[in-house]
Amino acid sequence: MDHFLYRDGALCAEDVRLEDIAAQVGTPFYVYSSATLTRHFKLFDDALEGTDHLVCFAMKSNSNQAVIKLLGDLGAGMDVVSGGEYARARAAGVPGERIVFSGIGKTREEMRTALNSGIRQFNVESEPELAALNEVALSLGVTAPITIRVNPDVDAKTHAKIATGKSENKFGIPISRAREVYTHAAGLKGLDVIGIDVHIGSQLTDLAPFEAAYLKVADLTKTLRADGHNIRRLDLGGGLGIPYERSNSAPPLPTEYGALIKRTVGDLGCEIEIEPGRLISGNAGLMVSRVIYVKEGEDRKFLILDAAMNDLIRPAMYDAWHDIDPVIEAAPGAERATYDVVGPVCESGDTFAKGRAMAPLSAGDLVAFRSAGAYGAVMSSEYNSRPLIPEVLVMGDQFAVIRPRPTYEEMINRDTIPAWL
Ligand code: LLP
Repeated sequence: MDHFLYRDGALCAEDVRLEDIAAQVGTPFYVYSSATLTRHFKLFDDALEGTDHLVCFAMKSNSNQAVIKLLGDLGAGMDVVSGGEYARARAAGVPGERIVFSGIGKTREEMRTALNSGIRQFNVESEPELAALNEVALSLGVTAPITIRVNPDVDAKTHAKIATGKSENKFGIPISRAREVYTHAAGLKGLDVIGIDVHIGSQLTDLAPFEAAYLKVADLTKTLRADGHNIRRLDLGGGLGIPYERSNSAPPLPTEYGALIKRTVGDLGCEIEIEPGRLISGNAGLMVSRVIYVKEGEDRKFLILDAAMNDLIRPAMYDAWHDIDPVIEAAPGAERATYDVVGPVCESGDTFAKGRAMAPLSAGDLVAFRSAGAYGAVMSSEYNSRPLIPEVLVMGDQFAVIRPRPTYEEMINRDTIPAWL
């Protein structure tokens, strides 16, 4: 459920008409609903009620300062994967003890910064990383709290580019080698081994792979404890999917996911962490764009928008589906038209949808891409020198630009011409 509904035929973000935002900030733009962000965070938090837990928002899905501040103020922790995300979390006021550092390629510099400024734990993904972190911690005279990410060799049954839990993927250490690696880690004086981490992929629409992975983690917890390790925290990753295509999907709910967690690992007495990104931010955001032209092709109509693949890359990159709705509702009974929905970038891959049946549209009309709050703005670029599009946050009847659109001048002035040229 989200807070983008039609009122008197006009699509609104909470109590604000999208047309009004477009008139003020221009198009294209991203718009987020505070109410939806809040609701989705609370769904997870409530689903784990009764367990000692922390919901760490995966900032890679949306790292705008205002979004992080809103979630941080609700008590969310943050899952970060770079020094930049760590800095963003701290700048938005999230304390170090609520920040988890994930990722397979943490640099010593990133480790040093996090150890100096405060960190809940590092999720370590390899033996060379264990060695590096141990060295950095010892050089600072501290101990680094860690979990080790295990790769459970489970098929997440999602898009190949976002599956991470099979043995052929680059993530974690094979679960079959876990005992050996934990024993090695326990001997490193700069590290405090506190738990186990697992993340099998993103946009999972079936609970079975989670169940398989978490049962393996439960077994491993018992084995490692028997080996003498004080396993007290389980980071179960993110990945719960969202309904991108309203007409044909109903992924499991956070309540069902929470029940699964309690059923599989709930009796181990461990603190539980989860790292959802998409389910919190995805349906809390839209991308709004204007039709520039409707072009008659030989055998099809092209809807040419002012947004392009550089603004929302998911369709080009993963063949992802986003529902595209008119901002002004079509008259009841209006015949639908079929379009290829494209952007202005000079690549055929700059296609948002092919043969999409939708309300008939004309040049100047506004459309909204649904489910664009996760992996939308964060994956955008200025390809074709198209300035990054603004982000807007709505709360009730108020809205604010939370990242402005750079002017051409600002965009150009980020480059410098050497004096010798
Ligand atoms: N934790 C770890 C270690 C991750 O790698 C990810 C996502 C998450 C948590 C959050 O997963 P979520 O709950 O958002 O599914 N750009 C792609 C998605 C990449 C996901 C990468 N890792 C897309 O647009 O579909």
